[in-house]
Amino acid sequence: MKTKEIKVQVIEYDNLNELSDENKDLLIQAREATQNAYAPYSGFFVGAAVLLENGKVVTGNNQENAAYPSGLCAERVALFYANANYPDVPVVAIAITAKNKLGKIHVIASPCGSCRQVMLETESRFEKPINVILDGEKIQMMEGIDNLLPLGFRPHSLK
Ligand code: THU
Repeated sequence: MKTKEIKVQVIEYDNLNELSDENKDLLIQAREATQNAYAPYSGFFVGAAVLLENGKVVTGNNQENAAYPSGLCAERVALFYANANYPDVPVVAIAITAKNKLGKIHVIASPCGSCRQVMLETESRFEKPINVILDGEKIQMMEGIDNLLPLGFRPHSLK
């Protein structure tokens, strides 16, 4: 028996201005996307902005439902829209933010497990690492979904 350690890498920025211009712009678009979140039940407004390899940005936000499980997270709304409309264009980055009813940005916009799984699928589909930028008190960036979902279930697991 042996114990193995798996390392993940998280790059931390003190504020928005430390980000590259491209990532800063993406995170600002994610913040803007929270305006259209439909979150009457949780009061938790999430925004996501997806950057495609061709430079196009697609945004999404959480869409809740009185039948709670029928709602969908911001990340998946944005990623599914991107994949539905630009099926041949790789996703290169996603920025995520979340705020409460008072407009206070959440401590860190950490994506749920299902959204991580969808990010992994998208990464596998295009065989290109996706950068993930998480808004919060500090801004965090992961280069590749392995850093968010180690030991993930990938398409090739089915082969
Ligand atoms: N939510 C997201 O949009 N993304 C996540 O990764 C976590 C949770 C949404 C779902 C629901 O509308 C609200 O946040 C509270 O869970």
